[in-house]
Amino acid sequence: MAKCRKCRKRADIFIPHHKLPLCKEDFSSWFENYLERTIKKYKMFSKKEKILIAISGGKDSLVLWKALNNLGYNTEGIIIDLGIEDFSILSLRIAENFAEEANKPLHILSLEKEIGLTIPRLKNRTKKYCSLCGSIKRYFLNKFARKNNYDVLVTGHNLDDEASSLLGNTINWHLKYLARKFPVLPSSNGFVRKAKPLCRFTAFEIKEYAKIMKIKYLEERCPLSPQATRLVYADLMDELEQKMPGTKLRFYSDYLKKVYPIFHEKMEEFMEKPLTNCEECGEPSVSSPCFICKLKKEYKSD
Ligand code: FES
Ligand code: ZN
Repeated sequence: MAKCRKCRKRADIFIPHHKLPLCKEDFSSWFENYLERTIKKYKMFSKKEKILIAISGGKDSLVLWKALNNLGYNTEGIIIDLGIEDFSILSLRIAENFAEEANKPLHILSLEKEIGLTIPRLKNRTKKYCSLCGSIKRYFLNKFARKNNYDVLVTGHNLDDEASSLLGNTINWHLKYLARKFPVLPSSNGFVRKAKPLCRFTAFEIKEYAKIMKIKYLEERCPLSPQATRLVYADLMDELEQKMPGTKLRFYSDYLKKVYPIFHEKMEEFMEKPLTNCEECGEPSVSSPCFICKLKKEYKSD
């Protein structure tokens, strides 16, 4: 094994796309420094601002929470209980244990309490439950963050997520998504500012940081999520990365630098429907009543 680039002791970890061998200690400082540089580069948030982190119980969100705390950011967590039996029970327990150890507040929202619905019940009614689940989470996270005056809502999306969804959106020319694919989105029309501070970290680097920091996280994926096409793009990106280390980061960073500004300028043109406010709940939506208010009614009449 090579020597650590920083201290010249034996290296424990090699980061291929940065061509960087590091020992454990220097790896965790590199991780936190690079995170801070990413936050500053994209002007995501400052140490004075109130940050709400969307927690799932998986490695990404908990690593992000830990690293932001180590850097001295003002954080709180939120988790949504989706009612997916053991999976939800376990993720909640893991998130609660983490919050207790970190001595940080964790807010818990229950889908059952909010709209009388769980994801397994939704699955019995519609094939689109998985993408609906994503929209439901975004709705409640945004609403909670705005109503409670957080400056920013952050999520644990990593480079693997971002590069593979960029590939999917490019292959299908989903212009409206491409026009909004940026590590930070400013607040507008009832949406709070959103940021993805881990967007330049691979899943491998995140797992290594979790190991060093001894973070307990849920390794299983959601048992209900089907073998999505998204995973096909993720596998393709992995193959490219293996053959040409650095591809993921280059593909994503060059998109942000060279292509995003062009698409972003035309964002309004790409939106299929203009944004309005739901006349029942008041939340920003492309239809009124919004999809959440429709779901609520549908399930009440069950
Ligand atoms: Fe939403 Fe699995 S987490 S369907
Ligand atoms: Zn509504």
